[in-house]
Amino acid sequence: MAVTALVGAQWGDEGKGKVIDILAEKSDMVVRAQGGNNAGHTVVAGGITYKLHLIPSGILYKGTVCVIGNGTVVDPAVILSEMEELQKRGVDLSQLKIDARAHVIFPYHIVLDELSEKARGAGDIGTTKKGIGPCYMDKAERIGIRMCDLIDPAVFREKLTRNVQIKNDIIVKLYGGKPVDLASVLADYTAYAQQLAPYVCDTSVLVYDAIKSGKNVLFEGAQGALLDLDVGTYPYVTSSHPVSGGFCVGAGVGPTLIDDVLGIAKAYTTRVGKGPFPTELNDATGDRIRNVGAEFGTTTGRPRRCGWLDAVILRFAVRVNGLTGIALNKLDTLSGLPTLKICVAYKKNGKILRDFPADIAALEGCEPVYEEYEGWTQDITQAKSIADLPPAARAYLQAIEKHIDCPVKMVGVGPDRTQNLEA
Ligand code: GDP
Ligand code: IMO
Ligand code: MG
Repeated sequence: MAVTALVGAQWGDEGKGKVIDILAEKSDMVVRAQGGNNAGHTVVAGGITYKLHLIPSGILYKGTVCVIGNGTVVDPAVILSEMEELQKRGVDLSQLKIDARAHVIFPYHIVLDELSEKARGAGDIGTTKKGIGPCYMDKAERIGIRMCDLIDPAVFREKLTRNVQIKNDIIVKLYGGKPVDLASVLADYTAYAQQLAPYVCDTSVLVYDAIKSGKNVLFEGAQGALLDLDVGTYPYVTSSHPVSGGFCVGAGVGPTLIDDVLGIAKAYTTRVGKGPFPTELNDATGDRIRNVGAEFGTTTGRPRRCGWLDAVILRFAVRVNGLTGIALNKLDTLSGLPTLKICVAYKKNGKILRDFPADIAALEGCEPVYEEYEGWTQDITQAKSIADLPPAARAYLQAIEKHIDCPVKMVGVGPDRTQNLEA
């Protein structure tokens, strides 16, 4: 298996957590490299559901080293409660490592996420309001506070004092909001620092050494290609780089060290938050997919917008990530639909577009060009191999491979780690 990167190929929530958990069994190390607790990764193992936001989905295997890399943003309160929850369930955390360079989310980031979204009015992004964007803003402005600062009391006090002053000015003077209290943030975060300090180290060295010594290393993507700050549907994106290149920057490894890139997609398309979505179904079929697929956000509980599979998007994901394969989840959700549609191109002003437009304004008015496929009625949740699937389901998979020029290597037929078919 060597070194595999796993990325979301759509707008997030493709079932990355489930596939990571499956591949983690054979992995020595699982690495998160971007995003924070805007992510919500669900793992169902032995009838128990785990919802992970920051801790890599490999944590359920004892001995697997789980790394939170330098490109992530860490909310200490969230990671500590996630750790506590896992410990209560008997999960071993001794192999958890947090990079010293990872940036820390503070209460003023969360307040500013809320206030800036409110100020955008109808033009809001629909963020998770976890302070992700404002924390990455501080990183880019070079005033961010990192894990290494958090665990150094003198440095921390100085940087926090400066930042609270700057942020309170913005909160109060620009937005008319309520200032955050320096003393209470200092006290809370000093306590968090003591609890987290034993986990903090230079994870780039750990990852490099693991790869060099031939260990199986898995990079766990959060979000998805269309939420990438650079190549996604800007401005309706997150503030990090969910594409495969994000692992290089966010885990401190060079691109030549990654062997395979597996894209995770759903057998249809979903999105939470605002922004364009060409194949969205605002009808009974969309409602049916949402209800059967339980399409409600893991992090915010928001109903996910649902629509047909979009091969234009998947071709984009193949290109920007250099995908070597696709894992297609939730094929079971489509069982019982009489006809399935795959969007193979967009049509605008009489012209056919095969590539996803760079500018979302260009996406406006794009009509999906669909190909129709026969559905199936059988329950496929107990299938043990792709050969067990009804012919119509296999034809649907073959059509996807043809349209995206990338092999489907795994197929999900249910949420449990056992409900995964390998090609
Ligand atoms: P992630 O953010 O990419 O890890 O995905 P989420 O966990 O947010 O959302 C995916 C949801 O689909 C979770 O509730 C999973 O348990 C569930 N899921 C994953 N794969 C399958 C599948 O093949 N079939 C079904 N029915 N559910 C699945
Ligand atoms: P996983 O890892 C789906 C979306 C938000 C919003 C936009 C910006 O579970 O796939 P942010 O809070 O990041 O500034 O919000 O990005 N978003 C996600 N959507 N899955 C996720 O993560 C997401 N993380 C962020 O809904 O539209
Ligand atoms: Mg999710």
